[in-house]
Amino acid sequence: MSSSASMLNPQISLLLLISFALSLSVSQSSTYHVFAIKEASVVDLQNAFKQNQLTSRQLVEFYIGEIRILNLVLRGVIEVNPDALYQANLADQQRKAKVPGSLYRLHGIPILLKDNIATKDKLNTTAGSFALLKSIVPWNAGMVMKLRKAGAIILEKASLSEWANFRSLAVPNGWSARGGQGKNPYVLSADPCGSSNGSTISVAANMVVVSLGSETDGSILCPTSFNGLVGIKPTVGLASRAGVIPVSPRQDTIGPICRTVTDAVYILNVTIGFDYYDAQATKEASKYIPRGGYMQFLKVDGLKGKRLGIVRNPFFNFANGSDLSQVFESHFQTLK
Ligand SMILES: *[C@@H]1O[C@H](CO)[C@@H](O)[C@H](O)[C@H]1NC(C)=O
Ligand SMILES: *[C@@H]1O[C@H](CO)[C@@H](O)[C@H](O)[C@H]1NC(C)=O
Ligand SMILES: *[C@@H]1O[C@H](CO)[C@@H](O)[C@H](O)[C@H]1NC(C)=O
Ligand SMILES: *[C@@H]1O[C@H](CO)[C@@H](O)[C@H](O)[C@H]1NC(C)=O
Repeated sequence: MSSSASMLNPQISLLLLISFALSLSVSQSSTYHVFAIKEASVVDLQNAFKQNQLTSRQLVEFYIGEIRILNLVLRGVIEVNPDALYQANLADQQRKAKVPGSLYRLHGIPILLKDNIATKDKLNTTAGSFALLKSIVPWNAGMVMKLRKAGAIILEKASLSEWANFRSLAVPNGWSARGGQGKNPYVLSADPCGSSNGSTISVAANMVVVSLGSETDGSILCPTSFNGLVGIKPTVGLASRAGVIPVSPRQDTIGPICRTVTDAVYILNVTIGFDYYDAQATKEASKYIPRGGYMQFLKVDGLKGKRLGIVRNPFFNFANGSDLSQVFESHFQTLK
């Protein structure tokens, strides 16, 4: 899961992430009277469920419709779960009957998984390769069990750079034999980066609300930064890798790819922690989960008083006055 854009400076990814987080937090769509699914966050969707403005079935139908249209070009989605509508109906019934789990934050929320994360259902798990098509996985990945327990609907599998970019150095970012070439929804000719590009493309283009990607070396941070999203690369072992097609056990980690920081923390909240099937790493990393978890750090004024470093000359061709530096300056003004 290495990214071809390894020259991308990590500080810049962080800056971009922060700038997107800020622009998202000020552009809430709460002024609309008719509930709009496009760009809605998990909180927006849960509120709409509560106020009977939306059902999980309507939500899943909306996303399947968007996938039919947009995926022809963008190729972020490799397969749609044939049972997604059934799962959505079930979630709606549980919400109506007020069963306890239906109050969970991810209950009835559709999620997309990178195609290297095993699901024991009708979806294939192939890392984008024909070599694994029709192979049967013995059980759900540890992450998937946690997501199911939290009530999430596994809507679809995302394309990726085949074998998470470890097929060949000559293969373009985001290409897989099964998925074809994934496209950056903002600029179709631009590199969407990889290897979690299907997870990223699909969230950026509203083909699903949240997704999971995996990273060995840049595969969450690079595509989220190229496609205007929030990605969290958890410390290795914080999230179980059991049932995820591996690249390097020392470096592989699975994390959320979302449109807002809040959504990403919701996913993080339910997907990390000890897993018997990745016992050594998850036990070690669990020691570092702060008491009370990560949700407590979601504060509207969380950046108040913080000092940020600005890297002013991170790229080649980044001379003062160049196109790139002008774009950077204009985003920097927004960020300010
Ligand atoms: C899994 O792969 C098989 C073989 O190509 C295909 O028939 C099936 O439709 C795939 N499953 C889904 C959910 O797309
Ligand atoms: C994104 O995924 C698609 C689908 O597999 C792939 O064709 C494309 O090359 C990927 N792009 C990058 C930059 O990884
Ligand atoms: C998840 O959220 C619950 C409820 O807010 C909290 O008690 C728990 O500590 C959180 N876990 C993590 C890992 O953030
Ligand atoms: C580039 O321009 C900015 C202001 O626009 C200035 O502060 C900075 O010193 C310049 N950098 C170089 C290397 O000339």
